[in-house]
Amino acid sequence: MMMKCLFLLIFCLIKYINCYDGFQSTLGHIKPQTDAQTQTQAVLDLIKRIIPERASEFLVNVDEDLAIEGRDSFTVQKQNGIVVITGSTGVAAASGFNHYLKYYCNAHISWEANQLNLPELPDVDIKITLNDRFRYYQNVCTASYSFVWWDWTQWEKHIDWMALNSFNLVLAFNGEEAIWERVYTKLNLTEQDINEHFTGPAFLAWLRMGNIRGWGGPLSRSWHDRSIYLQKTNSATDEEFWNNSSIACLCRIYPNVNMTQMTVWNDFNDTYCCPYFLDPTEELFSTIGKLFIEEQTAEFGTDHVYNCDSFNEVDPHTSDLTYLSNVGKSIYGAMTAADPEAIWVMQGWLFYSSIFWIVSERVESFITSVPLGKMIILDLQSEQFPQYDRLQQYFGQPYIWCMLHDFGGTLGVFGSVNKINENVLKARSENGSTMIGTGLTPEGINQNYVIYDLMIESAWRTSPSNLTEWFRNYTIRRYGKTDEYTWYEYADLFDAWDRFILAADNLKSSPAFLHDLVDITRQVLQVNGDIYYNKLISAFKDKNSDEFNDVAEIFKNIFFDLESILSTSKDFLLGSWLESAKACANNTEEEQLYEYNARNQITLWGPKGEIMNYANKQWAGVVSDFFYPRWELFIKRMNDSIQNETSFNQTAVKKEMFTTVEEPFTFDRTVFPTEPTGDTVDIAKDIHSRWYFVKSVSRTERSTEDNAEEIYSYQNYVKKDPNVVLIE
Ligand SMILES: *[C@@H]1O[C@H](CO)[C@@H](O)[C@H](O)[C@H]1NC(C)=O
Ligand SMILES: *[C@@H]1O[C@H](CO)[C@@H](O)[C@H](O)[C@H]1NC(C)=O
Ligand SMILES: *[C@@H]1O[C@H](CO)[C@@H](O)[C@H](O)[C@H]1NC(C)=O
Ligand SMILES: *[C@@H]1O[C@H](CO)[C@@H](O)[C@H](O)[C@H]1NC(C)=O
Ligand SMILES: *[C@@H]1O[C@H](CO)[C@@H](O)[C@H](O)[C@H]1NC(C)=O
Ligand SMILES: *[C@@H]1O[C@H](CO)[C@@H](O)[C@H](O)[C@H]1NC(C)=O
Ligand SMILES: *[C@@H]1O[C@H](CO)[C@@H](O)[C@H](O)[C@H]1NC(C)=O
Ligand SMILES: *[C@@H]1O[C@H](CO)[C@@H](O)[C@H](O)[C@H]1NC(C)=O
Ligand SMILES: *[C@@H]1O[C@H](CO)[C@@H](O)[C@H](O)[C@H]1NC(C)=O
Ligand SMILES: *[C@@H]1O[C@H](CO)[C@@H](O)[C@H](O)[C@H]1NC(C)=O
Ligand SMILES: *[C@@H]1O[C@H](CO)[C@@H](O)[C@H](O)[C@H]1NC(C)=O
Ligand SMILES: *[C@@H]1O[C@H](CO)[C@@H](O)[C@H](O)[C@H]1NC(C)=O
Repeated sequence: MMMKCLFLLIFCLIKYINCYDGFQSTLGHIKPQTDAQTQTQAVLDLIKRIIPERASEFLVNVDEDLAIEGRDSFTVQKQNGIVVITGSTGVAAASGFNHYLKYYCNAHISWEANQLNLPELPDVDIKITLNDRFRYYQNVCTASYSFVWWDWTQWEKHIDWMALNSFNLVLAFNGEEAIWERVYTKLNLTEQDINEHFTGPAFLAWLRMGNIRGWGGPLSRSWHDRSIYLQKTNSATDEEFWNNSSIACLCRIYPNVNMTQMTVWNDFNDTYCCPYFLDPTEELFSTIGKLFIEEQTAEFGTDHVYNCDSFNEVDPHTSDLTYLSNVGKSIYGAMTAADPEAIWVMQGWLFYSSIFWIVSERVESFITSVPLGKMIILDLQSEQFPQYDRLQQYFGQPYIWCMLHDFGGTLGVFGSVNKINENVLKARSENGSTMIGTGLTPEGINQNYVIYDLMIESAWRTSPSNLTEWFRNYTIRRYGKTDEYTWYEYADLFDAWDRFILAADNLKSSPAFLHDLVDITRQVLQVNGDIYYNKLISAFKDKNSDEFNDVAEIFKNIFFDLESILSTSKDFLLGSWLESAKACANNTEEEQLYEYNARNQITLWGPKGEIMNYANKQWAGVVSDFFYPRWELFIKRMNDSIQNETSFNQTAVKKEMFTTVEEPFTFDRTVFPTEPTGDTVDIAKDIHSRWYFVKSVSRTERSTEDNAEEIYSYQNYVKKDPNVVLIE
């Protein structure tokens, strides 16, 4: 039996851009490490990348004195035909530039498309001071769900986006395992130990969190080289974050060290689960922590901010308050041993996710063991589960109000707009508030840009927006023109869809509009899927063979429509995800492994479907080759059961689905297109002509069974009308 022994101590890099706030005395040293001239040049270069033809109409200055009580500020003025932007930092200047583009030129820069038809530059004379010292970006998972296969071109674009949107505290992804590999080698672990430890690229986030090991691995030399290159290129000023990571077989070397085995995570079996934790109060913890920081600093430098998430989805073995306090002290001690100016950043997720921390004294003992202001807590999903009130402003430790919004990078049109609009402001103005920033902590990006845009504005807004107006303004920026039909009640998906169809001819030259038309059509089809799924199940239970056949046909057609609309946009293609994974490979063996990583993460998530569908993607290619065949099989087996009057054996069907559809998909090597096919507007209109009838039921009517029976009938479905658009 192979001995499995894991040491946990993760360090994550944070790319720091600049900072400030009321915790000036403890956080004052966290600021840009480059001089004003370098920062100015960086912003000028950014402007040239964004609007090469118009760049000469802008001038940039960086003036540290513009900051107010440590908070970034910028001014934008038009003087003699030139727009002059001055920022207290490079990031502040970049956000001033974006502010002007958005609110004065009605331009738009987003993940999926830009709208940069600039008018003659309008007059402007503003000074804006951002509300807080920090704007934080990223969840540990974002790297694995969204960035993992990116090359430098994609990173560069994204880093520009971060600066434009004022982010100044950003978790970095690349290069961490490369550093660990060196540390482990120094600790005399063998290559085999290390290979069994590292997961594949698509699963690194959960290796870092101590959830799994080895799955989808190993990592090759060229992967490490690539990630070091990316990290070094990524930013002039990097900083480390550290956290717990795991490594196999340290106990072979250190037999007397006290380690605790983790519990099984999501049913991952013994080969991939249950790393061992090294107690932070152990001396080895400091030794290894120090080694890591030294190694990392030598490679990337440091900006003194380190992340360490102890107890994420793992509870301490004792509730003893002194122990908890000692853990905090040890972790902070290990950081300061390597870097006396260390600041500890911690995700506050554990305080929400584990019952252990319901006792607030435990939280208090743990976090106040670190000097106040030397720790920053990320209130991770403030739009849904804020912890700052329950935990009394985290007992004096500063925190950042973060919007999480998305799990697994899945698609779906939704968002907590009212909470975002109001609660950030409330939290900041609470008596004794220790809020020092706002942040985005999505597990994956590339969905629902509008919600992120709204949240990003909380960096400077001083009162809630009129949301009706806000969404209208957003569409003007994003699509580049006004259109009477794009003004819609956000919540009403079906109305919105009608309006999108009506606006399509006018707005079809806007790439962002086409993206959204695809997304909203996708969402409508998803909702239709829910409706007809229920009907399918009813027909099956009633053993109504005719009805079952009709509904099954409609249900299957939803997938064909879905596939065809998704295929029309570059943003919804499985091919892009797979080809970018393969492009990271150095040889055919790696290519195969990376493709497998990429396919597995968005479907089975684990060898046996341990976290099945969690990070599913409604992309062309996934719909045709994964979702559809699964449903087809399911329908076939239900039909057998109706026809033969036998019972439906769910266990058997699941098994069959795994072996005939799901697992084969993950090993398959079919090449999918990376370029869109078909005209978005034509296809959307065609789909609309077949599905408009769903809209003809108002929301109240839709909920009445009888009426719905008739409305959703097969007769209505086949009654295609190419011209109909309905608006209530
Ligand atoms: C690793 O092995 C070398 C050579 O055997 C030894 O000198 C060194 O002390 C070992 N390091 C650790 C951390 O055990
Ligand atoms: C650190 O690990 C914890 C789990 O221990 C995880 O929740 C957290 O996201 C990780 N943080 C970073 C920055 O890697
Ligand atoms: C493969 O990796 C090695 C080592 O990192 C590197 O020197 C070589 O250029 C890479 N080859 C390709 C084709 O990427
Ligand atoms: C080792 O850790 C366990 C909990 O995991 C604890 O109960 C025990 O007291 C520790 N032993 C020593 C010697 O520190
Ligand atoms: C865990 O699952 C993998 C994949 O199914 C398998 O190869 C491995 O043998 C299993 N390990 C154990 C200990 O069962
Ligand atoms: C992180 O490390 C600390 C110290 O070893 C440990 O107490 C904690 O449980 C670890 N947690 C995770 C998830 O890595
Ligand atoms: C704010 O908190 C302080 C200290 O807890 C308290 O003295 C003061 O009365 C509070 N003010 C308000 C308006 O609640
Ligand atoms: C919000 O703006 C809309 C459109 O301009 C306006 O009709 C509405 O009265 C405003 N709502 C509030 C509460 O001001
Ligand atoms: C919408 O845009 C108008 C015109 O630029 C502006 O006056 C208004 O403040 C904006 N409304 C919101 C909520 O941003
Ligand atoms: C169910 O089976 C019958 C008899 O083989 C067939 O005619 C019918 O098309 C099947 N229905 C579906 C939805 O597969
Ligand atoms: C049910 O009948 C079909 C033919 O309609 C046959 O192919 C299938 O094997 C039967 N299934 C079972 C479970 O008996
Ligand atoms: C259902 O299928 C499973 C797995 O194939 C089998 O073990 C079980 O006996 C079946 N149950 C019934 C009721 O047929």
